[in-house]
Amino acid sequence: MITPGTASLLELLAQAVDRDGRVRGLSPERYATTHAAYEAVSDQCGKVLAWLLDEIPTRVERVTDRPVAVLGVGVGDGAVDGPLAARLAADERAVSYHGVEPHRPSLDRFASRLSGLGRPRLNITASAADFGTFTGRGPYDVVHFVHSLYYVADVGGAIDHAMGLLRPGGCLVALTSPREPLSVLASLLAPQTTHPQWFAESVGMELAARDLPTTTTTIDGRLDLSASRADPDGLGEQILDFLIQARSADLSPQVRRLVEAHLDDIAFADEPWVVPHPLTAMVVTAP
Ligand SMILES: C[S@@+](CC[C@H](N)C(=O)[O-])C[C@H]1O[C@@H](n2cnc3c(N)ncnc32)[C@H](O)[C@@H]1O
Repeated sequence: MITPGTASLLELLAQAVDRDGRVRGLSPERYATTHAAYEAVSDQCGKVLAWLLDEIPTRVERVTDRPVAVLGVGVGDGAVDGPLAARLAADERAVSYHGVEPHRPSLDRFASRLSGLGRPRLNITASAADFGTFTGRGPYDVVHFVHSLYYVADVGGAIDHAMGLLRPGGCLVALTSPREPLSVLASLLAPQTTHPQWFAESVGMELAARDLPTTTTTIDGRLDLSASRADPDGLGEQILDFLIQARSADLSPQVRRLVEAHLDDIAFADEPWVVPHPLTAMVVTAP
């Protein structure tokens, strides 16, 4: 929930951005580096993994007569997919795991991370592609988007595409930030492209518009900014870049002050350097 005080700060920030202009975006390599730094100061990634390792294996328990087929969309360097593939392929279970990722160096890290698991019955394949142009046919037991639906051109189209790749009874898993309190900074500051970044509210609306029964859970995370405040030109710049999805070094002094004021405003009362980092997890079972 955005309080009236936070809303006025954000309004001031929006006005300052209108006046001073948006800054450079992140190159794919800068995105990958700052993403890893950002995840390292949040406890969200561990909680996401715990949630996925609890949810997905139970969803595919019934598959015993053939390999379990998983499609990860926007797999990045495989930080999430590695442990998930390891769990699914435990006890020599046959698993066919496909990763889609447009940034080739990240996709290569995904492939080597999963190969490095050394599971003989884990078959790994990968496509260097945007999901909008992904031509794989499946069918899959699981299609997941972990922090990647923000970036597709057409979120409704991506949901239709994913649902069309699932077997009956398979599941679509979408983990996406709500548009508050941290991710609102990216929507205000990231360079504008042909489409907005999609947040959990848009994903939920698209699922509801299709009458797809959805189970929704909030994963509460915490982002700890103390190390980045102590090293503003190093780690601090990386964290801020990922947070605003743009080059923070280019921000005008006033925009920077307002971003910092927003972070102070949303921090936990008893921990001034720690801010809430929630994530919305949605699961849909294919009819
Ligand atoms: C925040 S990262 C998440 C990576 C990984 N799922 C994780 O949680 O560690 C988002 C990933 O989505 C990828 N991505 C961006 N646009 C995409 C698209 N249109 N289709 C598929 N993946 C995309 C990015 O390259 C990036 O690796």
